[in-house]
Parts: sequence; structure tokens; C-alpha cells
Amino acid sequence: ISAGTDEMKCAASVAAVEEVRDGMIVGLGTGSTARHAIEAIARRIAEGLRIEPVATSHATADFAASLGIPVRDFASFAAIDLAIDGVDEIDPALRAIKGAGGAMLREKIVATAATRMLAVADSSKLAEQLGNRPVPIEILPFAQAFVEHRVRDLGGEPALRRTMAETPFVTDQANFVLDAHFASIEAPGALAAALDACPGILAHGLFLTEIDALYVAGHDGVSRRER
Ligand code: A5P
Repeated sequence: ISAGTDEMKCAASVAAVEEVRDGMIVGLGTGSTARHAIEAIARRIAEGLRIEPVATSHATADFAASLGIPVRDFASFAAIDLAIDGVDEIDPALRAIKGAGGAMLREKIVATAATRMLAVADSSKLAEQLGNRPVPIEILPFAQAFVEHRVRDLGGEPALRRTMAETPFVTDQANFVLDAHFASIEAPGALAAALDACPGILAHGLFLTEIDALYVAGHDGVSRRER
């Protein structure tokens, strides 16, 4: 692959999209890498592929529609066949941090509903240990100070995500996001369990069990890792 992160994101996505088969219900991820997967799916649909796509965000639904792919309302699906989504950071055990785009609540529901979840990434997302990137946490605005206090108790430093205009970033569900920096995440399972148990947290970006395979592109090409 010639140099360039965008080419790598595209190559990984094109390889992952080869797993999409006729008749599948497919979860479309959110972010710059997932957009390449959606474009690859659009090309295959133009060649005759027939699938039922669902989106992990309003942005993804809009992008898919702009490519002529109308998405179905996920609310009517109890399960889906395949989800394809990007990551912020992923370790050798295919445990990941997601949510830089703020879509982790819907992404986690879709990933959990999926029989198979594929992560797509360029090699800059590989990490030996999680924690270089903040853990995004979607919170009910009512619980902001309470959750910030809880995150500090857990060893994190929370920062309310803001827009360019310095107003709070608002999710598709009209909630806020805390980006929680942890110096290192020695025990991701324990941290995820503690966040899952905290009222006021709707979702967090630790995806420790959902990802079944990773398609990662580097200068040497695309490789696949299975859980
Ligand atoms: C969206 O909320 C995120 O989980 C993205 O999937 C993740 O941040 C990867 O985005 P990029 O592909 O743009 O890096």
C-alpha cells in the first residue's frame, strides 16, 4: 500500500466488506474508517448485492443515504448478522476503545446485537495496552458532576467534550460525553464493569468482548486477526 492513512483505512475496509453476503442485516459504523466501508458496500450494492443496512448514528444514516443506501430503522431488529466499525485504539486481544465520534452507545448496541463484529483500522490504531486514548463516556446531563466524581475515584480525569463553539457536544440521544483520561488501563474488565455499574452512564467506549475480527492495514497490506 502506498503511504497514507486514508488509503490504509480504505484497504482495511474493502477487505472487511468482502465478508458481506446477500441477505445479511449489516450494521454500518461511524467515523472516517467506517465511511470507507460504507462506500465499499455502496459499490457492491451497485453491482447487485442485496442487504438490509442499519446505522450506528444519524451521521452514518445521512452518509449512507447520500450514496443511495437507505438504512432501515434498527429499532425493529432484535439481532443483526454483521457489523463493521472503526476503533480509536485496539490491543492484541481485540479489546478496543471507541467513541471519538461520540456514537458509542448505538455502536455498542449494534455490535452486541451482531452475530459477527468486524473492526477496521489502519495500523496507527494498534496499541499494546489500552489507555493512550481517552475513554468516551455518554452521560445523562443530569448526572454530570456525579459521574465526574465517580470517574476520578476510578483513577480517571474526565473532561466534558465540547464543540468548536465551546458548547457541550450533544449525542444523537441528546446526552453529553465525558472523555476520561486514564494514565494506563491495567484492568480494562474491572474498569468497564465499574462504568457499567454507575447510574447516569449510558455507555462507555470500552469494547472488550464485542469485536470478533480485526482488519488492519499497514504499509505491508491488510491482515486479519480473529479473536
Ligand atoms: C465513533 O463514535 C467511533 O467509535 C469511531 O468508530 C472511532 O472513533 C473511529 O473513528 P475513525 O475511523 O474516524 O478513526
